Amino acid sequence: MSAARVKVGVLISGRGSNMQALIEAARAADYPARIAVVVANRPEAPGLAAAAALGVRAVAVDHRPFGGDREAHERAMDAVLRDAGVEVIAMAGFMRVLTPWFVDAWAGRMINIHPSLLPAYPGLNTHARALEAGDAEAGCTVHEVTLGVDQGPSLGQGRVPILPGDDVQALAARVLQAEHALYPRVLAEFCERFRP
Ligand code: GRF
Repeated sequence: MSAARVKVGVLISGRGSNMQALIEAARAADYPARIAVVVANRPEAPGLAAAAALGVRAVAVDHRPFGGDREAHERAMDAVLRDAGVEVIAMAGFMRVLTPWFVDAWAGRMINIHPSLLPAYPGLNTHARALEAGDAEAGCTVHEVTLGVDQGPSLGQGRVPILPGDDVQALAARVLQAEHALYPRVLAEFCERFRP
């Protein structure tokens, strides 16, 4: 008999294509995790409907009613995640910087995907910055989430070439394909740590 699967909560803010890649990968019989819940900070995030269509519980915890109280918003998200029995969090296009309270609460159990070859280009506009610098390649990194934004230990990278004539859109599409291949693989490896 195979060991129990690790319950994963996915945090999103928008489209959720990485989230869909994780849900689809987790359908495999031998995948070590299952996606227990998807949480978005924006009720209008298209990824919520996509998750529900794939049969995964999808919950909006709108940050706006909390005003500037970021920790109160995160405590509300945390309650949804704990209620679903979540053991590991995968951030997938979650566009808010987390407070120390949340990062600490999930220390060692939370990972993120970032669209650059970290430590190059933490933060936003990664593809424009790689093009501007004249880089020969770009890519994505899955890393543990720690207090420094996009600074946590790397768990894996996917590399793609930057081709002549690339604009931000073309490069982003190529990197996104690499993200969809990388994230399910790294999440599986990460979750093996927590299997009984
Ligand atoms: C991805 O490029 C991810 O690396 C970044 O935001 C984008 C989210 O895309 N953090 P999606 O919502 O997963 O389609």
